[in-house]
Amino acid sequence: MRRAKITVVGAGNVGASCAVWAAQKELGDIVLLDIPQAEDKTKGKALDLAQCGPVERFDVNLTGTADYAETAGSDVVIITAGLPRKPGMSRDDLVATNVKIVGSVSEQIAKHAPDAILIIVSNPLDAMVYTAWKKSGFDPRRVVGQAGCLDIARYRTFIAMELKCSVEDISALLLGGHGDDMVPLPSYTSVAGIPVTQLIPEARLTEIVNRAKVGGGELVKLMGTSAYYAPAAGSVQMAEAIIKDKKRILPCAGFCESEYGVGGYFVGVPCLLGANGVEKIIEVELSPAERDLFDSSVSHVKELVELAEKNMAG
Ligand code: NAI
Ligand code: 2OP
Repeated sequence: MRRAKITVVGAGNVGASCAVWAAQKELGDIVLLDIPQAEDKTKGKALDLAQCGPVERFDVNLTGTADYAETAGSDVVIITAGLPRKPGMSRDDLVATNVKIVGSVSEQIAKHAPDAILIIVSNPLDAMVYTAWKKSGFDPRRVVGQAGCLDIARYRTFIAMELKCSVEDISALLLGGHGDDMVPLPSYTSVAGIPVTQLIPEARLTEIVNRAKVGGGELVKLMGTSAYYAPAAGSVQMAEAIIKDKKRILPCAGFCESEYGVGGYFVGVPCLLGANGVEKIIEVELSPAERDLFDSSVSHVKELVELAEKNMAG
């Protein structure tokens, strides 16, 4: 049987962590690609990780490279290339630099791995998925952004911490962009089937929702750079759903045309992920208050995309 092939572009904190999770899950052979100036370090990371195989008991081939020819035949490409946030920066401050990086990476991938499905991680996420879509020329169902898998994992973690129960039993939904105006939805959150609203008082639940919304900033303050273990775990969760054709329903930045009335942007919505990428976007009912929050998050996404368009042109 042919092994799957995963390329991770950007072998920094998030990219290298993606390679670790993907290897541990034995998802397939892994190519870690970075810029030529970082080629030795990238080769070193791939070799170091390959040497975990005998201990962690995974059999995958790991390649570190700066050469896009090595990405040929990739089933999934995870793009993490670009600058991360530093203290005092918002994700949006990264647009100008990361549009150029993600744009050129996407063009290279389209040339060398034209059948791949792209998972974008670079920030500001919603504008970078749009950039990757434009620059790759791929069908929008084959381009998807990772944000919701991370944001929902943060929200689920905080709820489990509050209830002192297993994170596995928390099921939740989150919509919107990957900004501080993202929309975790208590009305679609349950704990082993029990609505969370029956277990946590409304005021406390609002505090938890607010902490999840600024969860990225909390980590930037603590670490001096942005998070990487959980972002990588979320990205690999998506890669696994695609590679194994699992038809998982995960919150991802999927291309919404008529869906949710968005009109041609990538925003966080429940996406059915399978071998063909985003195979379906699931629309849920929203209360008027939830709809307002979603609309305001989508307006922010549209502003970011406008900025990205200007930078793509310039
Ligand atoms: P990092 O600085 O550790 O790694 C970035 C890597 O990209 C570096 O190794 C750099 O050499 C490489 N790179 C830069 N230009 C490149 C190019 N043209 N081609 C190939 N590689 C290139 O940063 P980190 O922490 O890994 O974050 C990466 C990106 O992911 C950032 O934009 C960050 O904001 C974003 N991020 C997104 C999250 C999400 O949930 N969507 C969560 C966490 C981070
Ligand atoms: C995060 O949410 C900064 O997007 C990054 O951790």
